Amino acid sequence: MTDPKVLASGIAEAAAIDAADPLARFAERFVPNDGVIAYLDGNSLGRPLRVTAERLGAFVADDWGGRLIRAWDEQWMGLPFVLGDRIAAATLGAAPGQTVVADSTTVLLYKLMRAAVDARPGRHEIVLDDDNFPTDRYVAEGIARERGLRIRWLHVDPARGVEPAQAQEAVGPDTALVVLSHVAYRSGFLADADRITRIAHDAGALVLWDLCHSVGSVPIELDDWDVDLAVGCTYKYLNGGPGAPAFGYVARRLQGELEQPVQGWMGARDVFAMGDGFEPGDGMRRFVSGTPPVVGMLAMQDMLALIEEAGMPAIRAKSIALTEFALRQVQERLVPLGVVVATPLAPAERGSHVTVRHPAFRAVTARLWEEGVIPDFRAPDGLRIGLSPLSTTFAELQRGLDAIEAALTDARGDAPGAPQSAGPAGAAGAARASS
Ligand SMILES: Cc1ncc(COP(=O)(O)O)c(C=O)c1O
Repeated sequence: MTDPKVLASGIAEAAAIDAADPLARFAERFVPNDGVIAYLDGNSLGRPLRVTAERLGAFVADDWGGRLIRAWDEQWMGLPFVLGDRIAAATLGAAPGQTVVADSTTVLLYKLMRAAVDARPGRHEIVLDDDNFPTDRYVAEGIARERGLRIRWLHVDPARGVEPAQAQEAVGPDTALVVLSHVAYRSGFLADADRITRIAHDAGALVLWDLCHSVGSVPIELDDWDVDLAVGCTYKYLNGGPGAPAFGYVARRLQGELEQPVQGWMGARDVFAMGDGFEPGDGMRRFVSGTPPVVGMLAMQDMLALIEEAGMPAIRAKSIALTEFALRQVQERLVPLGVVVATPLAPAERGSHVTVRHPAFRAVTARLWEEGVIPDFRAPDGLRIGLSPLSTTFAELQRGLDAIEAALTDARGDAPGAPQSAGPAGAAGAARASS
């Protein structure tokens, strides 16, 4: 166990890094939480901003309470598109008219994957990796069953992700669609979206990127990379709150060609005509199905304002500094305790979280949560340290790393009088909604 004097000097050094951090001022804008010593799970559920409380109150009093149903015409009908364009400009490198906020990530994945495979008739394969997020795999499997297609699985190193050479080998004249995560949810591996998109296009396939773990933490250039389709969460680095709706991107050149399967009234050319038969709307309108989840679209607007103020290059620079800081200490302090690093060491190859593995991490995570230190656990033995550049401070990260070392030392039984096992998994082992 590290000497308390050494721990104190570590915190002082981290505080000095915070003092020189050009983005440090943003951390104060989040709702304070005295019970939490270190929040290392912003890659799963981002923290709320103080100003969001005011926004929600004003929404109830003024927009909903005051304007009542008139607010649909005045602002809510347009919100999915306005907000989509704002996300696109601030984080996706995408021109207006290609992004919409709607549904959940899972539902949008279904709608866009189905539209994509139907747009490539005569091709029978969907390519995706076996370590992609479960929902991506399950949705693809369901669509393959529905449409009589096959999945070509890429087998990846779970400490990394899909490399361009692997994609090159897998795609061919029978590939309809390639579905990959830009940042792998487990390892944090940052895929080369630009190169892999070109590889898929050379084979005549379409590509869909899942941006859940990259949007708001890693610069993205969908238009420059010539990406066809993308889907992402808004409750991680966009801090939209639990269950906030997803966003979907469809390149303008494809919009007229694609037909998504959930054709609801809100996707129709004339929403209030209420006529016979479905005629799809223009542009992104046709990818909407039902009533926009307006309440869920409120909080993310406050985080987008912060991202616009800070800028993605500065956010990425801080993200790299945080992950470097974490990895250096993991190497020095946790690897000697038997921990294995399961995240790429090169900054250019990772997003904003670091994953480390140890058989005791399920129990360790349960203890850490009780102590107000909140990373998350991914079966079978991974502890994820999520670093949200605008809300995480270096001092907070240092406190978290100190606590992880102490809990792991106890769980291993290295400390005098420590139990040999830290007991059953508690909150961290239980199912939770955001990943
Ligand atoms: C990579 C990835 N895709 C999809 C999802 C989830 O989708 P949904 O918002 O529908 O639960 C997550 C959730 O954490 C995720 O990490």
